[in-house]
This record gives sequence, C-alpha cells and structure tokens, in this order.
Amino acid sequence: DWSTRGILDEQVSRIREQIGDSRVICGLSGGVDSAVAAALVQRAVGDQLTCVFVDHGLLREGEAEQVERDFVAATGVNLYVANEQERFLSALAGVTDPEQKRKIIGREFIRAFEEAERQIIAQAAAEGETIRFLVQGTLYPDVVESGGGEGAANIKSHHNVGGLPEDLKFELVEPLRALFKDEVRAVGAELGLPPEIVGRQPFPGPGLGIRIVGEVTGERLDLLRKADAIARAELTAAGLDDEVWQMPVVLLADVRSVGVQGDGRTYGHPIVLRPVSSEDAMTADWSRLPFELLARISNRITNEVDGVNRVVLDVTSKPPGTIEWE
Ligand code: XMP
Repeated sequence: DWSTRGILDEQVSRIREQIGDSRVICGLSGGVDSAVAAALVQRAVGDQLTCVFVDHGLLREGEAEQVERDFVAATGVNLYVANEQERFLSALAGVTDPEQKRKIIGREFIRAFEEAERQIIAQAAAEGETIRFLVQGTLYPDVVESGGGEGAANIKSHHNVGGLPEDLKFELVEPLRALFKDEVRAVGAELGLPPEIVGRQPFPGPGLGIRIVGEVTGERLDLLRKADAIARAELTAAGLDDEVWQMPVVLLADVRSVGVQGDGRTYGHPIVLRPVSSEDAMTADWSRLPFELLARISNRITNEVDGVNRVVLDVTSKPPGTIEWE
C-alpha cells in the first residue's frame, strides 16, 4: 500500500545518502528483521553490500537453508556463510543460566562475525575498497526494551542491541529503527521477499539456546527442532499463522516425568507450547488455540519425538510471564 511504499522509498533514499558509494556489510540472523534490513540496503546500494550468515546451529529446522538458498534467490545478495555449530556447542557446554547463555551466544556470535568480517575486509582491500558501514536490523521495540528508549528498563539483554564491541569500527545503518514488526513485514513483502521469510515468526537471536531450559546439547537441539517443526507445521496446516504472534516451543531438559508408552514406563521430558498473541511483543496474551489443534500437536510430538512423553500449554500472559522461558 502507499504508506509501505512511502516507508520503503524514504528508507532507500536515506540509505543511499548515508552509504554513498562505500562498501557495507550486514549480518543475517535467520529472522525477518535482518532479512528485511539487508534487502532494503541491497535495493539501495546493490553489490556494495555483502551479507554474513553465522550459522550457530541454534536455528529451527530448515531456517539455515532459507537464508542460504531462498533469501539469496530473492535478492541476489552476496552472501558469506560461516559454519560455527561446533563452536557454539562447546562454548555452551555445562551452562544453564539464561543470561549466561545469552552472554556466551552474544560473545561467540561477535567473535565469529568478526572473523568473517576480516575475510570480507581483506577481499575488499584486494579490490582497493574499504568497508565503512554495518547494517543492523534493530526495531523500535528492541530499542525500547534494551533501555535505548525513554526511561525504559533493561528487561533482557537482547544481543542484537547493545551487544556490539566497544571498538566498533563501522558506522551503523539501522533502517528499521523506527518501525514495528508489522511495518517491517509489509516492507519485506513490498521488496519481493518470499512469504516464508516475511511471515516468519519473530525468533530470538540466541535461538533455541534459550528454549532449552537446562544445558544446551546437540542431542537436545535435535529433539527440540523436531518438536518445534511439528508444532509449526500443524499451526500452519490449521491456517492459524496469522492469529499467533509467535509460538515458542520449549524443552524442559532438567525436568522429567513418568509416562507410559507402548508397554513400558517412560521417564521423559516435557515440551511446553507457548503460543501468544501480541502487537509488538511488549505485552502479550496466550493464544486460545483450538483444542483439536492442541491435541494433534501433542499426539504427534509424543509419538514422533523420542524422549518426550508430555506436552503442556503455557496459559500465562505477559506480564507477568515473558514470551520466552529464558
Ligand atoms: P520476551 O521473552 O522478553 O521476548 O517477552 C520479547 C520478544 O523478544 C524476543 N527475544 C529476543 N530477541 N534476542 C533477541 O533478538 C534475545 O535475547 C531475545 N529474548 C527474547 C522474543 O522472542 C519476543 O519476540
């Protein structure tokens, strides 16, 4: 519509003005924000942009492919991929505290990103160019919740804001800083990004790392990825994607309960479904999903995911609960 086109045109000309003919890099997280920010910058300055995707192994099923294949196909962007799954797993070994996990993931992310940066800087130097700018997909609610807004409290240390190294050598380009999520999606659609990318639920930077209550291991990640993929597929099949802001699927890895499956007693982990409705993630209500859908998700997860013998529903609004469990 006209207002989306207006935002797009305004941002594209602002980006051009800011960047000029310099080189710029952008990290892709797998989320809609960085995808739209990158696509906007690509629209504005084309091949002056190089995107970096640090695959930390904490994404949901199919999401790395979505970045590496679908996003590149839609935008034609230059992409540098760093496969860092092992690095994050070893850094997270033995860690259970949520803020500690965020700090470690944020720290390793910066290190991995800087290593990728050095490669790209060297490549540009070989062509007689320097990288002057860095794109960030920061939204208005991120700014407010991280204490960047007027008098707002720092609720959780979102690593996509304020987690940058002190000696930051780039000037920031933040084309989404004044926008709410629905505006970002509209701009992405206007830019021709595929619906799977534009319609993607908001997903935290630390990814599945903060959806495992307990230590993060490769095995637990695989388990959670399966449960999450089932829940998402069923939500989509029920045609309810638009009713739900996001639906974290959480593994309570430190909790076990007794169950019975086949002819045996089991002692497995619960999976929590946390579907919420929200305008901007600042407040949220739990989504009243149809019982038949909940039953289908529960049956499929307990039947198909080894080690899970119970599915529970989170019926807490925000406040007092946050959307994520960690
Ligand atoms: P909470 O759990 O604070 O989440 O109600 C609000 C919104 O922020 C997302 N979230 C994060 N995003 N890094 C991010 O980039 C984080 O550490 C983080 N923690 C929460 C969450 O998914 C929800 O959309």
